[in-house]
Amino acid sequence: MSEHVVKMIEEEDVDSRILELAKEIDEEYKGEEVFLVCVLRGAAFFACELAKRITIPVTLDFMQVSSYGSGTRSTGEVKIVKDIDLSLRDKNVIIVEDIVDTGNTLSTLKAFLVQRKAKSVKICSLLDKPERREVNVDIDYVGFTIPDKFVVGYGLDYNQKYRNLPYVGVVEFD
Ligand code: IMP
Ligand code: MG
Repeated sequence: MSEHVVKMIEEEDVDSRILELAKEIDEEYKGEEVFLVCVLRGAAFFACELAKRITIPVTLDFMQVSSYGSGTRSTGEVKIVKDIDLSLRDKNVIIVEDIVDTGNTLSTLKAFLVQRKAKSVKICSLLDKPERREVNVDIDYVGFTIPDKFVVGYGLDYNQKYRNLPYVGVVEFD
């Protein structure tokens, strides 16, 4: 089976929305610092672009969890594949994700990080697909709310492809 990608959100629109999110974070944590926890691999592009636009002090670390296999369907089971290396104690943590789909990944991850005695733990996701939610999660910062379509680009993949697209597109199967 082959597929093609149809553009859904333009690069300029993604970039300007990220700037707005950065400004919101700057405002909300004025006089403080934030600790961004980037969820690999999908959120890598978004986390870097977001970090570049935040002007208060930023610490960045990376985690990897497994939720999806190689296809487009969640297994529901979430495993920590790589933990962060730095301490979260007394930090203002913001988990940076590419997309919230069923909510399984972020609800598990947030509960896991809350145990680390951070000052606060919030969630920032570039995309949100609320129609697919199975577990309730509070997303504090959302880039775009999108319909139930499988999307790629700006870090998101289909079978590890398309992460490098500078825009968000929908995968259509031929
Ligand atoms: P959740 O646990 O179902 O919320 O899934 C979250 C993870 O599934 C995301 O971090 C993505 O890596 C992946 N995912 C969910 N929807 C999509 C999509 O439309 N395109 C690419 N990856 C997706
Ligand atoms: Mg992800």
